[in-house]
Amino acid sequence: MKLCRLFAAGTLSICAAVPAFAMPGVEHGEQVYARCQACHALSYDRVGPRHCGLFGRTAGSVPGFVYSPGMKNSHIVWNGKTLDRFLADPSKTVPGTLMTYDGVSDARDRADLIAYLEEADKTPECTALKAKH
Ligand code: HEC
Repeated sequence: MKLCRLFAAGTLSICAAVPAFAMPGVEHGEQVYARCQACHALSYDRVGPRHCGLFGRTAGSVPGFVYSPGMKNSHIVWNGKTLDRFLADPSKTVPGTLMTYDGVSDARDRADLIAYLEEADKTPECTALKAKH
């Protein structure tokens, strides 16, 4: 009986929800990222290119992903500022983009989302991918 309880307690502590990110903004950003997951994933290409390694990357440069000419020729380098502009209004920032998405209109949502993307780049999902290349 005692053992059972111990076992149950142990199981509980294993199952307890551990927040993936300590900063509240980043946690909210992870929720906003759900909107992007219709087309994107962090570590593999879907309808849109993967997001691991996004910071410092030149737009349109994931090997093997077929971008629009507009994205390829934009010469944008992704950082907090360029992402904020693009995500506010994708098709206005990159005319002809294949990212058929209205954008994230709320500035707070964008800031948290960008903070999340930057943190996500440091998670094992992304660092493992970088180690492969
Ligand atoms: C309807 C599908 C769709 C949704 C939703 C979507 N994207 Fe995209 N995204 C794409 C496609 C397709 C591309 C490639 C665009 C091109 O080549 O013009 C892209 C490109 C990008 C790029 C450029 C990446 C690079 O390698 O240069 C970024 C950054 C990006 N998306 C971020 C986001 C974020 C953040 C969200 C959520 C707020 C989001 N996207 C939502 C489809 C989508």
